[in-house]
Amino acid sequence: MDPIEKLNAKKQEALLGGGQARIDDQHKKGKLTARERIDLLIDEGTFEEIGMLVTHRSTAFGLDKQKFLGDGVVTGHGKVNGREVFVYSQDFTVFGGSLSEAHAEKICKIMDMAMKVGIPVIGLNDSGGARIQEGVVSLGGYADIFLRNTLASGVIPQISAIMGPCAGGAVYSPAITDFVLMVKQTSYMFVTGPNVVRTVTHEEVSSEELGGAMTHASKSGVAHFAVESEVECIDHIKRLLSFLPQNNAEEPPRTVCSDPADRKDAALNTVIPDSSVKPYDIKLVIHAVVDDADFFEVHQEYAQNIIVGFARMNGMPVGIVANQPAVLAGVLDIEASIKAARFIRFCDAFNIPLITFEDVPGFLPGTDQEWHGIIKHGAKLLYAYCEATVPKITVITRKAYGGAYDVMNSKHIRGDMNFAWPTAEIAVMGPKGAVEIIFKKEIDKAEDKEAALAQKVQEYTDTFANPYSAAERGYIDDVILPEETRPRIIRALEMLSTKVDRNPKKKHGNIPL
Ligand code: HXC
Repeated sequence: MDPIEKLNAKKQEALLGGGQARIDDQHKKGKLTARERIDLLIDEGTFEEIGMLVTHRSTAFGLDKQKFLGDGVVTGHGKVNGREVFVYSQDFTVFGGSLSEAHAEKICKIMDMAMKVGIPVIGLNDSGGARIQEGVVSLGGYADIFLRNTLASGVIPQISAIMGPCAGGAVYSPAITDFVLMVKQTSYMFVTGPNVVRTVTHEEVSSEELGGAMTHASKSGVAHFAVESEVECIDHIKRLLSFLPQNNAEEPPRTVCSDPADRKDAALNTVIPDSSVKPYDIKLVIHAVVDDADFFEVHQEYAQNIIVGFARMNGMPVGIVANQPAVLAGVLDIEASIKAARFIRFCDAFNIPLITFEDVPGFLPGTDQEWHGIIKHGAKLLYAYCEATVPKITVITRKAYGGAYDVMNSKHIRGDMNFAWPTAEIAVMGPKGAVEIIFKKEIDKAEDKEAALAQKVQEYTDTFANPYSAAERGYIDDVILPEETRPRIIRALEMLSTKVDRNPKKKHGNIPL
């Protein structure tokens, strides 16, 4: 055969993966193929494939007669909105996207290159797991990937989209990466599937319930995003990338901003309800402050008592962490602590400044929290804030009580600019709880106990439930009008843009896991 014809024929064959019938099956399941997904993700005409002609080397169970060019994964690099990324996309039409030795080598090859050139890796996962016919060799392939995921962590952004099955030990590669996106109804992740669960624990559970997108987005927190469709999934990846630098040595990408940096918002002056126990939605504050009210929330369905996500301030990407008084009064519990700690560590690793909106009544009491380790999990959040060296700005909108005051990026743990609104209440605990302890005897002795309690509560409120004791000591850099929050944060960010701070030299810290 003519050499050019031969090449064209081979490439044509590779493009078909496991063949047209299996492509049709994939479409019938409501799923796109590996290549269609890459076409959606990568800017037109920029995808450069690597390893299109790779095949497996196995002979057991008749595999020598079943070879597919590419061996179940499409790998390469291309641009997303003009910025280079590496991508691998598992091809379910070839042995169910299962991971062989050769398949793993392809993924490892692009990961090694991504580390050398310092660009993100996007994994589009759709795989039946280890290629069963290859045995331990495919397990080794997974471990080779896990090691690279770990070494790349904090160096280049790693994003995993789950667009089909992801089971067994295979789940641990996405779990090590920075963000996991799952498509509702067509993807699932679990260590052991429903059949094993039934045998071992006698529980009857469907794949979707056990490990579907909403399960992981709302219950386990494994998924950061649960999306309606593959198209939405790819859009989310693009949006996410737009906030991130290419690697940990770069600054996040600035954009031109048309929202005025000095824009004040008078509506913020009345956002805090008259009663300190009334809830309000902190997202109103976030939307009013960030550029164009554009907030990209991460982990939206999980631990909703704390909000995390990306936004821009005068074109600068920032990470937002905010207690949510509208859910559980914004209390810090185990899940909220873990959620925020992980987000803070991501932002710190990738030079994304942190803005904290604080309205927190404290840590959640109770046996459930204590027995499940709120001490060590809350410590994660504290540790993450303490070790972060990116610019760190706090705005206390209302409550900053107890240990939670210290934890939520206080001045003492290297908050760079700490602002409070006039409605801030910065104290060891809420007024009622406080007077019931320190004036217990006095109140018990009083003829009208209720009146005595009310009077003491008022006294305590006047003394401590305000920002001024903290401001007098410099724990708060300024008490600001709510309406000027945006310009004040932007000015602080401008000042902090050349900030240099370092932690002591060490192999690594020992975060309380
Ligand atoms: C080889 C596999 C495969 C696998 C699927 N196929 N999984 N081939 N190794 N792991 C093949 C099928 O034989 C079939 O080939 C094609 O892929 C499509 O599979 P179907 O079963 O027809 O598809 P579907 O009904 O959609 O079911 C998908 C599935 C199921 C749920 C993923 O195939 C399945 O349960 N597979 C086994 C999953 C598993 O137990 N994997 C090992 C997990 S342990 P043909 O030729 O008919 O198209 C593991 C350990 C990792 O992964 C450890 C890391 C540390």
